[in-house]
Amino acid sequence: MLKFDDYLRQIGCEEELSAVLKSIVDSIKEISKSIKTSDTGKAGSLNVFGEQQLALDIFSNKIIENHLKNNPLVGIIASEELPDEIRLGDGAYGVCFDPLDGSSLVDVNLAVGSIFGIYKTKSFIGIKGDDMLAAVVAVYGPRTTFVITVRKGVQEFVLSDEGDFILSKEDIKVSEGKMFAPGNLRACKYRQDYFNLVVSWCKDEYTLRYSGGMVPDINQIFIKGKGIFSYPGYEKEPNGKLRLLFECGPASLLMEEAGGAASDGKARILSKPVASIDARTPIFIGSKAEVKRCEDSLA
Ligand code: AHG
Ligand code: MN
Ligand code: MN
Repeated sequence: MLKFDDYLRQIGCEEELSAVLKSIVDSIKEISKSIKTSDTGKAGSLNVFGEQQLALDIFSNKIIENHLKNNPLVGIIASEELPDEIRLGDGAYGVCFDPLDGSSLVDVNLAVGSIFGIYKTKSFIGIKGDDMLAAVVAVYGPRTTFVITVRKGVQEFVLSDEGDFILSKEDIKVSEGKMFAPGNLRACKYRQDYFNLVVSWCKDEYTLRYSGGMVPDINQIFIKGKGIFSYPGYEKEPNGKLRLLFECGPASLLMEEAGGAASDGKARILSKPVASIDARTPIFIGSKAEVKRCEDSLA
């Protein structure tokens, strides 16, 4: 039974980075608890992406913001639910996050999650995923878990009854296997190449596992050790929907650390500079061969 703090010590994670990660993990614990009984209705506001904010989006954002504000090591934050990055102080660390990915799935009781990227930076503009020090993706489902990388492989932790995160899966690897999570199937109406790709997965007898939440849809690839998640763009929205800084970047660092890959169809997601906080990107993420198949099919 290895607790999260002991894990950080065991791998020799730098003290300051460990402290930032502990603040993040404390916020995950608090969201996990609050989500069980909170209101699933609309907040009555729009975020910078023009999306309806739910009360859940706002309170998850607030929980994370508060934990990070209380940590002097964190100098800057950016959130999917905030219009701009916010300077907190002189701390060397920057944390970007999607406080509640898939929040519209809470009322139907499907799994949702939080996504975090940790950098040493004074601003998120111009940075690349390649600059990231660590990434965390938390899943609130029947159990609360998170996968983490501090660039020493990928591990999973599970929240125990006692309120501790315990190491549950070590050195997670993603290799080949027939499982697919095809997002944005609307694009099939406009893109014959994407339609053909989806049909080819069907004809090759892949197992469909798609929940509509990027976090659980990607988390299953880590835990099952195989598969592909796709979210392409098309004429109406050439870069798709998912955000480079808040969603695709951290997921891609985890995937590469697990031996998989993540591409926008042409370039590695981690090599793409963040031109603006709200930048979006198409994404194909999973095992190396599947990502290559996407790149070849959609060229
Ligand atoms: P968010 O709730 O943070 O806005 O993100 C939801 C995302 C992601 O979880 C999922 O993969 C995608 O939206 C699905 O979108 P559509 O169902 O609109 O294609
Ligand atoms: Mn999201
Ligand atoms: Mn969100």
